[in-house]
Amino acid sequence: MDNRVVIFDTTLRDGEQSPGASMTPAEKLRIAHALDELGVDVIEAGFPISSPDDFVGVQKIAKEVRRPVVAGLARARREDIERAAAAVEHAERPRIHTFIATSKVHLESKLKITEEECVEQAIAAVELARRYTDDVEFSAEDATRTDLAFLQRVVRAAIGAGATTINLPDTVGYTLPTEITRMFRTLIEGVPELSGVVLSAHCHDDLGLAVANSLAALEAGARQVECTVNGIGERAGNAALEEIVMSIAVRKDLLGLTTGIHTRRIHPTSRLLSQITGIHPQPNKAIVGRNAFAHEAGIHQDGMLKERRTYEIMDPAMVGVHGSELVLGKHSGRHALSARFKELGYELAEEELERAYRLFKLLANQKKDIRDEDLLAIIHHGTMRDIPDTFRLERMRVECGGEWSHATIVIKQKDAAAVTVEGKGDGPIAAAFDGVNQVVGWSVELVDLTIRAATPGRDAVGEVSLRIAVDGKTFSGRAASTDVVDAAVRGYLHALNKAAHARSMGEEALQKSADIGGV
Ligand code: KIV
Ligand code: ZN
Repeated sequence: MDNRVVIFDTTLRDGEQSPGASMTPAEKLRIAHALDELGVDVIEAGFPISSPDDFVGVQKIAKEVRRPVVAGLARARREDIERAAAAVEHAERPRIHTFIATSKVHLESKLKITEEECVEQAIAAVELARRYTDDVEFSAEDATRTDLAFLQRVVRAAIGAGATTINLPDTVGYTLPTEITRMFRTLIEGVPELSGVVLSAHCHDDLGLAVANSLAALEAGARQVECTVNGIGERAGNAALEEIVMSIAVRKDLLGLTTGIHTRRIHPTSRLLSQITGIHPQPNKAIVGRNAFAHEAGIHQDGMLKERRTYEIMDPAMVGVHGSELVLGKHSGRHALSARFKELGYELAEEELERAYRLFKLLANQKKDIRDEDLLAIIHHGTMRDIPDTFRLERMRVECGGEWSHATIVIKQKDAAAVTVEGKGDGPIAAAFDGVNQVVGWSVELVDLTIRAATPGRDAVGEVSLRIAVDGKTFSGRAASTDVVDAAVRGYLHALNKAAHARSMGEEALQKSADIGGV
């Protein structure tokens, strides 16, 4: 059996289903380029029928990211498959990933169909998808809670209809390593046709076993794993890509498997995702957590000084973690800045570098030591724009005094003169948001807001991540500054600009359907 494991990354589809992880098409494209550099084999770029933005995101990635296979998800329905086919049409290597639930509880309570109908729909979906591409993946949703005899029947039918990858998801994170091993072995023995296709595992982390279950499936014979960077995903998340890949690399002696991942790109990719989504892995998270390579206990430090292998199973450099983070200061020039960004994995266009340099100089006047995290804050919160600025902060002044807090804000609105407003609230952020709301004039609900220090020290850059709800949809916003009120207002405007963009897209879509005589 081939020992090469196909890494199927679903950060942009299942990962994006994490609460608060929604990304704009431009953000998704940036992640997709990073995943390409990381060396993943398949990028599941989205669920094209789920929204116009998802469709655009998948389409952009399909057009621009040429090396990996680009997959679009589709339920086993004609309209889903046609939409997914249109979204991946221009990919160098397009895949349609179609799924239907197979467990009794899903068939009876959710889909309200018989086993017979389920098999018929699976066949029809795969056959239709094959009209658009030779690369068709079929997933039996909730496979781990499906009767094994029925699962074999559905899988055989899907292969007969032309599926080239068969995925058996642990949709609700319910299985255990011994059980998933049994399921994969039973399928391999019972369905000889599986030898002609790629068998895949897709595990969720509800019991904290997603990675263990994925590895068990590989040991049983699966050769594709579906995973996400930092393990983000629906509920407790998906199997973490970095943990699976490093288990395969570090325990090659035991597993005898390989992947095409450039492991040194793991950290930069993880950081990029955290910066874009505002979701940071917990400090003790394996491989990518802040403390993953920190040794606190004296005995450990002593051992490490004598021989690193006493307490270290992998060299941090293998995953792109480098010892010294202190980089630049007030006197550093454009060249040093550009070189450091390059080391962090960012190739900046001239205009982007100019903007980053201006922000860098401002920051260097406020704080002495500029670390990698500061540079990442600059790049993600000021340099690379993902959405047009409908609203832009010109100036702000706040007075703090508990419930007497007061803000004077000057905001420039697209195609209009700047306006000055006075806001009130029970704290400086509330007062500033009150001012912004007066300019925007829509009903906006603040869903959550977190403030985090990007680096240690009193002069740290504060990063604000927040979510707002507008018109029943959620939008995330992020910004960074040494002044957290300034960061909060800019983050709020970032989210409002996304909402404004979505509103304008909605109007455009309505206009288009009116033009073609639609609703
Ligand atoms: O968890 C799951 O079952 C899925 C499928 C759509 C593959 O995400
Ligand atoms: Zn899933």
